[in-house]
Amino acid sequence: MSSPSWFWWSVVGGGISAVALCILKRCTRTAIKCTSLRLMSGKTVLITGANCGLGKATALELAKRDARVIMACRDLVKAKQAMDDIRQVTTMGELHIAKLDLSSMSSVKQFCENINAQESRLDVLINNAAVMAHPFAITEDGLEINMAVNHFGNFLLTNLLLDLLKKSSPSRIVFVSSSLHKFGKLNLKDLNTKHKNPYADSKLANIYFARELHSRLKGTGVAVHTLSPGMVNTELGRHRISNVLRFCLQPLFWLMVKSPEEGCQTIVHCAISENLDNVSGGYYANCKESQWSEISQENLPQLYEISERLTGL
Ligand SMILES: NC(=O)c1ccc[n+]([C@@H]2O[C@H](COP(=O)([O-])OP(=O)(O)OC[C@H]3O[C@@H](n4cnc5c(N)ncnc54)[C@H](OP(=O)(O)O)[C@@H]3O)[C@@H](O)[C@H]2O)c1
Repeated sequence: MSSPSWFWWSVVGGGISAVALCILKRCTRTAIKCTSLRLMSGKTVLITGANCGLGKATALELAKRDARVIMACRDLVKAKQAMDDIRQVTTMGELHIAKLDLSSMSSVKQFCENINAQESRLDVLINNAAVMAHPFAITEDGLEINMAVNHFGNFLLTNLLLDLLKKSSPSRIVFVSSSLHKFGKLNLKDLNTKHKNPYADSKLANIYFARELHSRLKGTGVAVHTLSPGMVNTELGRHRISNVLRFCLQPLFWLMVKSPEEGCQTIVHCAISENLDNVSGGYYANCKESQWSEISQENLPQLYEISERLTGL
């Protein structure tokens, strides 16, 4: 008689403990914040994919710190909406929107031509935009779509803005990678066929590119910081999870994953913190320096040359 009731009491007890643990975890997550009070007055920051998710939250944080923020987005209607949303929250800083489609190397070239012609300085470049599990497709440049947006577009963009970053030194390049890079595997002979895990592969490519760039930029005053924001409730899973399912999962997301405002703190830390002045080449998580994974340290210098060739740099 008593054993089923004990069973149900254990289930209820276990459930309550799990929810309490999640709430506790949620409270500690809110406490992880970029503690820098540095103002970015007179500084220009360029953020890719700033119309939603982490990019938009970062744009807001930097506007609050009086930065001049260029929101580089592929859809100018969404970008304008995001800019208006940010203006509802703060009147600080300067906001600009500009068209950038990272899947098209001609769009990247055009974008950089405009930036180089119009901007006198660039203090921080935040390579944030990405897609996850985009259905397989080959772009107009003959590149696999996930690799094109997440790696090749970033690669070309960063290289074409390097002179401006050097001219504005000390300046920073921030790569928003992901801890999922650990599951990546890059076959340099086969970068543009269908990948088993295109997101992890492209995030691993981000890391190899960032590490190589860090060594190439030594002594130039341009620092390179790479980070993982953790799991964040954004639109990144749009190719995997339908909007209806995403809506239904919101309570679970609230408990288990960071909000964009929480998730962007490490990006802001890498972009502005005085603790990172005169530092380059690190990997960050939760606003702290973290260990490079084993696979990150393998380094593939050839990826740089292959990317130069494939992007027509
Ligand atoms: N969310 C997470 O749990 C998580 C975890 C680890 C790492 N990250 C990283 O965080 C970064 C930001 O992602 P998120 O979570 O904020 O995702 P998100 O909400 O989906 O935002 C991605 C941004 O990238 C833009 N984008 C996509 N394709 C583009 C293209 N071809 N050209 C230019 N922009 C393009 C999107 O623009 P549209 O809206 O027009 O598509 C959007 O602004 C990514 O690098 C991601 O890998 C996220």
